[in-house]
Amino acid sequence: MISRRLLFGALASGVTGCTEYNQQSVLNPAGPQSTSTHQLFIFMLVVAALVYVVVVGGFLLVVRSRRLPDAPPDSPRREADATRAVKIAVGVVVPILFIFLVYDLAVAHGIGRMPTDRSMLTIDVTGRQWWWDVVYEDPVPQNSFHTANEIHIPVGIPVRIKLASHDVIHSFWIPNLAGKKDLIPGHDNEIWIRADKPGTYRGPCAEFCGIEHAKMALFVVAEPQAQFAEWILHQRQPSVLPSDSLTSRGFMVFKSGPCATCHTIAGTGAAATVGPDLTHLQSRSTIAAGTLQNTRGNLAGWILDPQTLKPGAKMPPNAIAPKDFQALLAYLETLK
Ligand code: CUA
Repeated sequence: MISRRLLFGALASGVTGCTEYNQQSVLNPAGPQSTSTHQLFIFMLVVAALVYVVVVGGFLLVVRSRRLPDAPPDSPRREADATRAVKIAVGVVVPILFIFLVYDLAVAHGIGRMPTDRSMLTIDVTGRQWWWDVVYEDPVPQNSFHTANEIHIPVGIPVRIKLASHDVIHSFWIPNLAGKKDLIPGHDNEIWIRADKPGTYRGPCAEFCGIEHAKMALFVVAEPQAQFAEWILHQRQPSVLPSDSLTSRGFMVFKSGPCATCHTIAGTGAAATVGPDLTHLQSRSTIAAGTLQNTRGNLAGWILDPQTLKPGAKMPPNAIAPKDFQALLAYLETLK
């Protein structure tokens, strides 16, 4: 059993055995939308706390000063007191609720308005049971590329995210950056995000979408523009072809075995879209949508027995001869 100290230590530092990321919380905003909802929350909390103190304080004062009944319950004086109390309550509560409503509508209007720059970066995110298929759109078709479960964005620049679903309803939610938006089959949706601080922000799928809903995380890596431009250039490249006998053997295992029936590796002819694109697999921090840290050991366990690690996932167990398996792992490790 996980000790309490270990659990809360992990939560506080944003480490859950998968990858390091900024503490996943709406109370730790890193973008304009999350900052304005955070300010709204703090405002409502403070006002509600003040009202609570005033109401409870008033109640205690009344109880103290009226300990002995000086008039029968149905006397005119009691009725006048009750009417006055109701008037005060309505006079205080209604204006406060109205202020909350106006502030709330203003925040909703501000965060919902899509920036008008039509040339801004657009990323297509498609929810699948249980991972995220990601396409970076580009006006030049050969510059578009696929990735999965991890998106990179430049710091300080708004990014349009187009949302679609391949199967059931999922929900896109990066708590540190913005609110939720559903991915609905047959209905296109969109949201925009902007990160004002570099970092890695984790997003859980926010709509129950089947038994592995909890193992459907998306990471947003916000990085300085130069670093982001470098990442984009690298992702556009096809995979490196095997350069020695071990990785060549691994490549043949990939191409002739079950892997190529589900996965794409750009530049190899493998172009199936059942599972995540693996062209730059090693550039991602996790595998299986945040389920495991991306290490050789975890990758090996995942390929051999995904159903134990993520029961119900589409990937079947794979029995591969040991020497072929080591060669396959060596090849997959070259997909930087
Ligand atoms: Cu996808 Cu929950």
